[in-house]
Amino acid sequence: MKKYILIALITTLVSCKKETETNLDQPKHDETSVTVSGEELFSGKGTCTACHLPDQKVIGPSITEIAKIYKEKNASIVSFLKEEAEPIVDPSQYEVMKANFAITKQMSDEELKALEEYMLSFAK
Ligand code: HEC
Repeated sequence: MKKYILIALITTLVSCKKETETNLDQPKHDETSVTVSGEELFSGKGTCTACHLPDQKVIGPSITEIAKIYKEKNASIVSFLKEEAEPIVDPSQYEVMKANFAITKQMSDEELKALEEYMLSFAK
């Protein structure tokens, strides 16, 4: 008897897992989808935190430095992340940043806008 309960439980768990997996595959342009915050994108899917910390230069310039320059120049981070605008912060290191366009170009405009807003919020 115990065995059957166990099998039933496993089956339920497996089918639940499948459901979440298919949900993740749904198109991200779905109007009804919940908007992800820029912060989540930055540290999650974007993996931007690997090279950009709030106040300290690591591999890339700090978020504060980028935000300051983009605000001063009234430039668009969204355009930069779509590879439609030239680098203005540290062009000598542009090649390192370029690899990330593979990720950012997969993002919707809404997600890129959220990333931009998150980064600009660091300008003092
Ligand atoms: C492998 C390390 C690395 C990762 C990961 C990374 N960056 Fe960068 N990023 C850099 C470097 C190096 C620069 C400096 C070169 C430059 O200015 O283009 C830079 C510059 C930038 C700039 C300034 C561009 C300019 O005008 O000069 C922005 C905006 C930016 N990154 C956003 C992001 C976002 C958003 C993510 C996540 C999707 C990200 N970065 C992930 C390394 C990285």
